[in-house]
Amino acid sequence: MEIQKAYFFRVPPEVFYGIGAAEKVGELAKPFGRRALIVTDPGVSRAGVVDEIKTRLRSSEIETEVFHKVEPNPSVETVEKGLKAFEDFGGEFIVAVGGGSPMDVGKAVATLSTNGGRITDYEGVGKVEKPALPVIAIPTTAGTGSEVTINLVITDRPKKHKFPVIDKNIAARIAIVDPVMTLSLPPQVTASTGLDALTHAIESYTCTITHPVSEVLALEGVRLMGAYLRQAVANGKNLEARDKVMTGCLMASMAFSNTRLGNVHAASTPLGGFFDVPHGIANAILLPYVMEFNVFGDPKKFAHIAEALGEDIYGLTELEAAYKAPQAIKKLSRDVGIPKTLREVGVKEEGIEDMAKEAMTSGNILVNPRATKIEDIINLYRSAF
Ligand SMILES: [Fe+2]
Repeated sequence: MEIQKAYFFRVPPEVFYGIGAAEKVGELAKPFGRRALIVTDPGVSRAGVVDEIKTRLRSSEIETEVFHKVEPNPSVETVEKGLKAFEDFGGEFIVAVGGGSPMDVGKAVATLSTNGGRITDYEGVGKVEKPALPVIAIPTTAGTGSEVTINLVITDRPKKHKFPVIDKNIAARIAIVDPVMTLSLPPQVTASTGLDALTHAIESYTCTITHPVSEVLALEGVRLMGAYLRQAVANGKNLEARDKVMTGCLMASMAFSNTRLGNVHAASTPLGGFFDVPHGIANAILLPYVMEFNVFGDPKKFAHIAEALGEDIYGLTELEAAYKAPQAIKKLSRDVGIPKTLREVGVKEEGIEDMAKEAMTSGNILVNPRATKIEDIINLYRSAF
C-alpha cells in the first residue's frame, strides 16, 4: 500500500482569469496605492499593451511610470535599474506586464524593496524573510507561469550563472490572466512559450515529489496544451485555442510551483546563461531527449502523458505506451516549428562540459524520475546538439 506523505500545497493569493480580465486592472489595483511602476519589455511596450494598462490604471486615479528595459534572460543589473526607477518614482506597487522576464524582474524589484540587499543574496530556496511589495502580474504569453509561481530566475552575466529565487514571499499578489493578452503573440513565440509550459506540466507530473493535487493540475495541463497548442500557433487570433492553452498553462504553473521540475530545466538553464538561448526554445529542444531518458524511471506516468497527448495506447503494454510520450512531443515540436538542434540556436560544442557542471548544481536534478549523473547530462547535450 502506498501512503501519501505530508505535503504543502500553496495556492497563489488571487487569480483573476478570463477573456477581458485585464480590463479590470484599475479596479483590482486600487487597494495597493496610488503610484505604480509598470515593468515590461520593449516589445510589449511597442505592441500598445502597456498604453491600454496605463489608461485603465489612470481611470482609477493611479499614477504610473514605465520601466521597459527588461531583456530576455534578465540580469542582476536590470533588477537594480528597475529598483532605482521604482524608488525614484516613489512607487507603492508594481504592475508587471509581459512574459517571464518582465514578471520575474517585477517580482525581484518588489522583493528587494522590502528585504534590501541584492537579488543574488536570495539565490536558492526559502531565503526571503519578508513578503515582497504587491505585484500585479499580467502575462502576455502562456508559458513561464511566473504570475502564479513562487519562483523567479535572474542571470548573473559576468559569471554566466542563471539562478532561481524560490520563496513564498515573492509571489505576485494578483495574477490577471487574460487570453486576449496573447492574441498578438507571433507563432514562434507562441510555440516556444507553449512548449515551456508543457515542459512544466510534464516535469511536474513525473518528478519524484508530486502529490495528488499537483498531479491532477499537471496532467490536465498536458491534455489542454497538447490539444490546442497547434491551433494557437496556426492562427493566433483563435481565441478558443488561446483560452485553452492559457488555462492549461495556469494549471501547469500552479502544479510546478508546488513540486519542482526535472532534467529539462536543469539543463536548459545553463543554455540561457552561457549562450543566451531563450528559455522556451532551450526546453523545447531538450524535452523529447529527456523524456526518452526518463521513460523507465516511471513508465506508468509517461503512459498517462502519452494518452493525455492524444496517442492511441489501446492494447499496448505500459512501457510501449510510455514510449509514445516522447514521440508525441517530437510530432508536436515539428508541427509548431521548434528548431531541432542546439547547434541551430547558437550553442557551441566546447561549452558542453561547463554547462553540464552547472546543470548538476540544479535542485531539479535531484527530483528527476531517473537518477542522473554528469555523463547523462553531457550525453543529453550531445544528442540534442
Ligand atoms: Fe520553464
